[in-house]
Amino acid sequence: MEPLMPLRALGRSGVRVPALGVGTNRWGRRGRGADQLGRVLSAALDAGANLFDTAEVYLGSEKALGECLRRDPRPALVVSKFAPYPTRFSAGSFQKALQGSLARLGRDSVDLYLIHFPFSLLGIARLMDRLAELAQAGRVRAVGVSNFSASQMYVAAERLDRYGIPLAANEVQFSLFHRDPERNGVLEACRKLDVALIAYRPLAGGRIGRPGSALETTLAGMAHARQKTAAQVALNWLLGKDERIVAIPGATRAEHLKENVGAIGWTLSDDEHATLDRVST
Ligand SMILES: NC(=O)c1ccc[n+]([C@@H]2O[C@H](COP(=O)([O-])OP(=O)(O)OC[C@H]3O[C@@H](n4cnc5c(N)ncnc54)[C@H](OP(=O)(O)O)[C@@H]3O)[C@@H](O)[C@H]2O)c1
Repeated sequence: MEPLMPLRALGRSGVRVPALGVGTNRWGRRGRGADQLGRVLSAALDAGANLFDTAEVYLGSEKALGECLRRDPRPALVVSKFAPYPTRFSAGSFQKALQGSLARLGRDSVDLYLIHFPFSLLGIARLMDRLAELAQAGRVRAVGVSNFSASQMYVAAERLDRYGIPLAANEVQFSLFHRDPERNGVLEACRKLDVALIAYRPLAGGRIGRPGSALETTLAGMAHARQKTAAQVALNWLLGKDERIVAIPGATRAEHLKENVGAIGWTLSDDEHATLDRVST
């Protein structure tokens, strides 16, 4: 059966995910009840956007996501992250962190496990050794990093290669309002190493759609002409940059989720792309 949503590869890991997933870092916050979040999750599954990004440090997010996944047990893909705090360097501390995430999520494995940020007393090569051990133990389908620079990605990929494990993804901030990955070599490194770029804060934290700068005015005009919304145009621009990009807009409201999946199934013209590139530079 054709997937509802176009799929994109997590590098050479063999794992394929929808081009558009859901960020859940606000799912643990007060005021977001289980019914409200359940509606977001069900709308995402209905649309084929069944990729959910969480982390042990997003307080309450893994637990809230786990609860929603229990209520609606259709197939879903989960990304979680290990926070490499200074006291965490033993293999046991990595295993314990992963077990904690799995227990909160109510799952036997995660589809992608990331090192949340590169700052660690262990150093990148050692971090990758630990990550490889978790992958070899079978509780993690693919491994990756987050907030890593291009040079750090090369170190990570080379070390994982010793274990025959590909670096699957680097999750970094990327949007029309934050185009650093295009300039700092990260997008280029993703291309060279065949690694997915998971774009976080793709809606600039919800700023997109609010009137303000020349960029916002251009977005609003383009959206109006296409009968789309500014968020849909912004996500379409992002996903059109490269086949390796996966976007994970955060949503705690089902209407936002439904709007965001409307970014799929059509393409901005080359002229529209060029205009957004120019105005957002
Ligand atoms: N790896 C990392 O270091 C890292 C760092 C930050 C974030 N992340 C991940 O990336 C995900 C996304 O980032 P983010 O949540 O910070 O920022 P974002 O996706 O750019 O924006 C999310 C905000 O936009 C709102 N929103 C969603 N759809 C909208 C729409 N169509 N129109 C207007 N507003 C809309 C949401 O509101 P509602 O909540 O009311 O629906 C929420 O307030 C996070 O959830 C997290 O999973 C990763």
